Amino acid sequence: MPLLDVVPDLERLAADRVVPELLERGFCCVDGLLGERAGDAVLEQVKDLHRTGAMDDGRLAGSGPAGPPAGVRGDKIAWVSGAERECDAINALLKRLDHVITVCARSLDGRSITERSKAMAACYPGNGAGYVKHVDNPNSDGRCITCIYYLNKNWKAQEDGGVLRIFPDGKSCAVDIEPHFDRLLLFWSDRRNPHEVLPSYAARYAVTVWYFDSDERAEARRRFARPAGCEVRSS
Ligand code: OGA
Ligand code: NI
Repeated sequence: MPLLDVVPDLERLAADRVVPELLERGFCCVDGLLGERAGDAVLEQVKDLHRTGAMDDGRLAGSGPAGPPAGVRGDKIAWVSGAERECDAINALLKRLDHVITVCARSLDGRSITERSKAMAACYPGNGAGYVKHVDNPNSDGRCITCIYYLNKNWKAQEDGGVLRIFPDGKSCAVDIEPHFDRLLLFWSDRRNPHEVLPSYAARYAVTVWYFDSDERAEARRRFARPAGCEVRSS
C-alpha cells in the first residue's frame, strides 16, 4: 500500500491556528502543509524554473519601473499562474493556499479577500545575497496577506543563513523563521510586519503569494491603474 502523507485538515487549521495567530501576533507558521510527496513535486518544479533560466533578477522585477537598487534583494524570481507546462504541483499548492485563505477570510472581521497575485517562485542562489529589511505593502497597494511556502530540506540556519527575520510592529524583539521544507508562513503584508532575509549561503527556494483585500485593491487600482490579480479559487 502506498504511504499516504498526513496533511492537516484545512478548515481546522484555519480556525484553530491561522486566524487566531494572525489576529494576535500578525503572523503564523505552519509545518507540513502538503506532505513530503506533494512538497517534493513543488520543489522539483521550482528548481526546474531556476535551472532552465526562467527566473529573472528579483531586483529588476521589483516595484517601480527600474526596481530597487543593487544590494536590496539578491533573489531570482519567476511569476507563475499555475497553468503553465510543468507547473501542476505549484498549481496544487496555489489551490491549497486559496482554500486556507478562503476559510480564514470568513473569520477575519469582515475582510473581503477575493483575489491574489500570481505565485512568485524565488531562489536565493546561495552567494550570500538576502533581502534588506522592508515592508511588502507600505502604501496600501491592496496586498493584505503574504504567504510564503518554503522548500528547503536539511536547512541548517547556523551555516546556511537565509533566515526570515520579522520585526513585528510595536514589539521590541524580532522573530526568526527558518525556511524549512513544507513550511508555510503567513503574515499581514502591511507595516505591521517589516522583515528581512538574512544572507543565504545555500540555494534557498520558496513560493510566495500575496492575497488582496478587495476594497483596498479596488482603491489602489483606481490610483495606479495596475492590472488585476488572479481570481481566488477554492478547491
Ligand atoms: C519578499 C520576502 C521573504 C522570504 O519576497 O518580499 O520578503 O523569506 N521574502 O523569502
Ligand atoms: Ni517581503
